[in-house]
Amino acid sequence: MILSIESSCDDSAIAITEIATKKLLFHKKISQELEHSVYGGVVPELAARLHAEALPRILQECEPYFEKLKAVAVTSTPGLAVTLVEGVSMAKAIAVSLGIELIGVNHLVGHIYSLFIEKESTFPLTVLLVSGGHTQVMEVKGLCEITTVAKSMDDSFGESFDKVAKMMGLGYPGGPLIEKLAKEGNRKAYNFTVPLHQSPLIAFSYSGLKNAVRLAVEAAGEDKTKYSDIAASFEHIATKHLTMKLKKYFKTHPPRSFAIVGGASANLYLRSQIEELLQPYGAKLLLSELKYCSDNAAMIGRVAIEMYEKKQFCSLDELEIVPKSKL
Ligand code: KG4
Ligand code: ZN
Repeated sequence: MILSIESSCDDSAIAITEIATKKLLFHKKISQELEHSVYGGVVPELAARLHAEALPRILQECEPYFEKLKAVAVTSTPGLAVTLVEGVSMAKAIAVSLGIELIGVNHLVGHIYSLFIEKESTFPLTVLLVSGGHTQVMEVKGLCEITTVAKSMDDSFGESFDKVAKMMGLGYPGGPLIEKLAKEGNRKAYNFTVPLHQSPLIAFSYSGLKNAVRLAVEAAGEDKTKYSDIAASFEHIATKHLTMKLKKYFKTHPPRSFAIVGGASANLYLRSQIEELLQPYGAKLLLSELKYCSDNAAMIGRVAIEMYEKKQFCSLDELEIVPKSKL
């Protein structure tokens, strides 16, 4: 079995996965959404302190599995340095005390493998990762064959939802709150400009849209009835930006199998628009189970099985925290 730890942002999670069967034997996540909600975003030092409390509490529940562990895996990149270190220190301590292998996992690869929890993986795959930290398109042929073909130049898709929710005083995380509010609004009410619509670049940008929304929220003033229209129009344009750039990319790289992963892949409007986009290509759409879209340790454990089989282990000195992903 492998014990896997996730602490790259505001979720403390530990999983136990059986290597031979890929079965998930244990998974527990303690989210910090409530604690960060009052600040409208994640406060790194607070997140680190909460991990330091939550991770040992979850680990205690894993004690019955200790004897059967062959390795401990942990997210070591990318993420907040002060929160990554909580998981990595714990993983190193477990590796030393139990005398087992240590595996460092890239969180983005974790999101890709969230598609294959308790399943065999299937590649090649074009993957759209939409989370709080990342918006990128990757061509994936296997564990070590991942090429990023487009990414955000500034804010990420999920982050823009968080910031719009903060402007409206709705709380954190903003994605589900904006999605709910948007259902009551008119997507055509506000004519926000689609980012980079005249640019030949296949890249993403959300900072301009965010500022346009800020002006609309300020203009609405105390009239909160306009918020649902702003949310609906924002969600529509934020999604249209993704589908327009993907359409451009598909002209030279028609998709066969396509996947959406990451916390924001739970967004139903985004899912429906991507489904529509894929139709002419007859491409298959892969999605993670809803409970594994946002950060979790099951996806880290699933990657760790692949790395264990390839003997991709780290020594204590080799395992470093790298806040920025190389992918
Ligand atoms: O993957 P994740 O849990 O953490 C990162 O790796 O960043 O993604 C969290 C992000 C947050 O920005 C959150 O607002 C966004 O995913 N999110 C959504 C939805 N649910 C979560 N964004 C849009 N619509 C949603 N339904
Ligand atoms: Zn994530």
